[in-house]
Amino acid sequence: MSGLLVYDVTLVTAGSAREGALRVEGESVAELLPPLDAKQARAEAARHGAQLVDGGGRWLLPGGVDPHVHLALPTAGTTTIDDFESGSRAALAGGTTTLVDFVTPARGQPLPEAARARLAEARGSFCDHGLHASVTRWTSSTADELAVCVEEMGLRSVKTYLAYLDTIGLGEDDLLRVMEVAARLDAPVLVHCEDGVDIERRQDDLVSAGETGPRAHARSRPPECEAAAVRRALSLSEETGARLYVVHVSTLEAARELEQARARGLGVLTETCPHYLLLDESRYEAPDDQAVAFVMTPPLRPSGHPPALREALARGVFDVVATDHCSFDLAQKQAAGGDFLRIPNGVAGVEHRLALLYTLGVRGGLLSPSDWVRLVCEGPARAFGLYPRKGSLRVGSDADLVLWDPTHERLLRGAEDHHRCDHSVYEGMRVGGRADVVWRRGERVVEDGEPLPALLPGRYLPR
Ligand code: URP
Ligand code: ZN
Repeated sequence: MSGLLVYDVTLVTAGSAREGALRVEGESVAELLPPLDAKQARAEAARHGAQLVDGGGRWLLPGGVDPHVHLALPTAGTTTIDDFESGSRAALAGGTTTLVDFVTPARGQPLPEAARARLAEARGSFCDHGLHASVTRWTSSTADELAVCVEEMGLRSVKTYLAYLDTIGLGEDDLLRVMEVAARLDAPVLVHCEDGVDIERRQDDLVSAGETGPRAHARSRPPECEAAAVRRALSLSEETGARLYVVHVSTLEAARELEQARARGLGVLTETCPHYLLLDESRYEAPDDQAVAFVMTPPLRPSGHPPALREALARGVFDVVATDHCSFDLAQKQAAGGDFLRIPNGVAGVEHRLALLYTLGVRGGLLSPSDWVRLVCEGPARAFGLYPRKGSLRVGSDADLVLWDPTHERLLRGAEDHHRCDHSVYEGMRVGGRADVVWRRGERVVEDGEPLPALLPGRYLPR
């Protein structure tokens, strides 16, 4: 038996949602068909020797693309609890079949050397995957190293941080240099927009005032730090012609800056994350040993921000909803003894991105099904040159497919999640929708919402 015929489904893409059927041959989408009844579908499947799948009126979408995850990342004296195996298994369980992670060289380490090591680690991924090249220091060889990474090793894009100045961050002059090179290489530049100088000053002030817990983390990096850095990144991208992609937008001010830049005709790409749409800084009011779970960068914001970001989402201000999955067990976070400067930053999210955005967006009346697919599949694929191979149901696209049950209901329970992280910032949240069956390049990898035990490795996606 070769191939697959899925019938009685609504085919949902960023362009349309219509009833039909889809046939897969080998690893690719072979044919999009009109609606077929069971008899017609059986005949069509027999004609092609394809396995028949009754969609039962569910939706069929392209596999999700999460372009912002940190798996097996050494940071803050520890390493994220999810590696490429556990993180990608969780991604598949939630309907995400493609991940893009990062190469983050230690300062002084040549970027191609770090990229080679990272590519070897990423071979453990069950999702197809690409990598962004982070520049953590500008040196006389950085331009050549970036050219090797992009042109010879197939890295898709360049990442820079305007925060974390003592470890991996860059000053504005260096960001300008990176953007000039990236523009020549035609690679998008992802920028973590927080004003690192301002943050360091605020951190010193808080420490001097004896404020140390998770609330101090949020106070040290207030909304204006994000908006100021967004303005700078926008002006540098205008100056250099680099394609700017602003990661994890968390504030209404930054969203407004980006919306205005687009209105001026600037082609900036924008990303937000489910946690900024759903959670606010009241989480830091919990006792410190629980509040540490919510320490992420940028931090959760005052209560007016999530609704404003949701309105921006509905207005089309965002191209991508990614997770910034960067997970630590509670004990790893608690080991910092409540010192906000040492708490590892980041939360788990890769598994529930599709369901959270479906619930908030589609069920909540903010997004159409096609808008949802644009944000979690096609938008990220387009941003990093993966479209139409990924993020699409076009003939010839990789047969990464999600059979989505739009009627499914559940309460999220961290203990039931497929990643390794031992807690969830979405604990107890009611979500609708579920990835019942997932195929990665035509191979079934999830059945009844559960990843299959023996998964073949995913494939590296060079540009
Ligand atoms: O808290 C986070 N997001 N940690 C990961 C690194 C980053 O800033 O994206
Ligand atoms: Zn990140």
